[in-house]
Amino acid sequence: TTLTGVTPPPMGWASWNSFASSIDHNVVKQQTDALVSSGMAAAGYKYVNLDDGWWQGERDANGNIVVDETLWPGGMKAIADYIHSKGLKAGIYTDAGKQGCGYYFPTTRPAAPNTGMEGHYQQDLETFQRWGFDYVKIDWCGGQAEGLDQEATYKAIAAANEAATAVTGHKLVLSFCEWGSGLSWNWATGYGDLWRTSTDVIFWGQTPTTAKMLTNFDRALHPAAQHTGYYNDPDMLMTGMSGLTAAQNRLHMGLWAISGAPLLAGNNLATMSTTTRDILTNREMIAIDQDPRGLQGVKVAEDTRNLQVYGKVLAGTGKRAVLLLNRTSASASMTVRWADLGLTSATASVRNVWTGTDAGSFGTGYTTTVPAGDAVLLTVSGTEASGTTYEDTTTATT
Ligand code: GLA
Repeated sequence: TTLTGVTPPPMGWASWNSFASSIDHNVVKQQTDALVSSGMAAAGYKYVNLDDGWWQGERDANGNIVVDETLWPGGMKAIADYIHSKGLKAGIYTDAGKQGCGYYFPTTRPAAPNTGMEGHYQQDLETFQRWGFDYVKIDWCGGQAEGLDQEATYKAIAAANEAATAVTGHKLVLSFCEWGSGLSWNWATGYGDLWRTSTDVIFWGQTPTTAKMLTNFDRALHPAAQHTGYYNDPDMLMTGMSGLTAAQNRLHMGLWAISGAPLLAGNNLATMSTTTRDILTNREMIAIDQDPRGLQGVKVAEDTRNLQVYGKVLAGTGKRAVLLLNRTSASASMTVRWADLGLTSATASVRNVWTGTDAGSFGTGYTTTVPAGDAVLLTVSGTEASGTTYEDTTTATT
């Protein structure tokens, strides 16, 4: 297959982490407005994604989804239009099976019984396209309950998206959400634009933790599957949610950025602190995430004390992002060696992304102190070691 993905990892906001199924036009408009007024839209966050809960479980005699106009005055097209009117893009949610996850794990609103796409793939995708949505997340609770096959099902959905696009002329970004249960990284590239690789980073009502952040980061590391336009998805961000310190919020962004992961904020944008906003909108962090080469960072060094060095090859020559990740409970001195990054031992310049300061120029490598359970995010500009080539994946083949 020739892959022709060109888009960087999606950035935006998604409703689930802060609102669960209690979403309506007021919530979405408020968050859309806050995405703009906070400066996040200008920093690159452009999707406003409605997650589970927008639907009420009814279809009409023709099988078309019936929308509750008390929650969505003017229907779903009106909310997509509102999002577009702010210069943003709109996302929506469905399931590969007969019902979404809210049916099996009800949260804030009575569960909708018959809302998934099964039996209606092309019909529903055409509907989402006609409403004006640009992006759809396709969950798996119904698919799993019905014992569907992940690969066959999601490939059928991708084909239905093509067929629907041929009718409407409007294509949807496909976000597959089978949580890695069907090893999506082995088959999803080129079918989905992004695919979840693990269970939820935060289940509704639970407290965010560094441990779950790290688990989802680890489970998303499938660099061979990731090319420009096709991304492993460790899940939406918990950044700014109650229970996380500023250091944890930064760590979260550092992990997602080095991974080239989608950056879908899940906090309440209307009430976030300026510290959270500054972390979410750190331009240098975003540039690492969005790097046009589209590669995923890989672990380039590790020692037995759980001190890990991740390196991400960036566009250009001799450019790297580096995450020094200290998974121990004690502060540690950590070193990144140029040789481990595929650079020569000649002097390279180092910049600390979180402080936005140049650390200086160093031969061989760079050493710094990393607090316990935390990370330092760097960019390094050095000299490529001879013979190293990195795939430029704007058009990649598998
Ligand atoms: C699953 C998904 C979550 C969210 C909920 C909605 O748990 O993994 O991201 O969409 O369903 O019910």
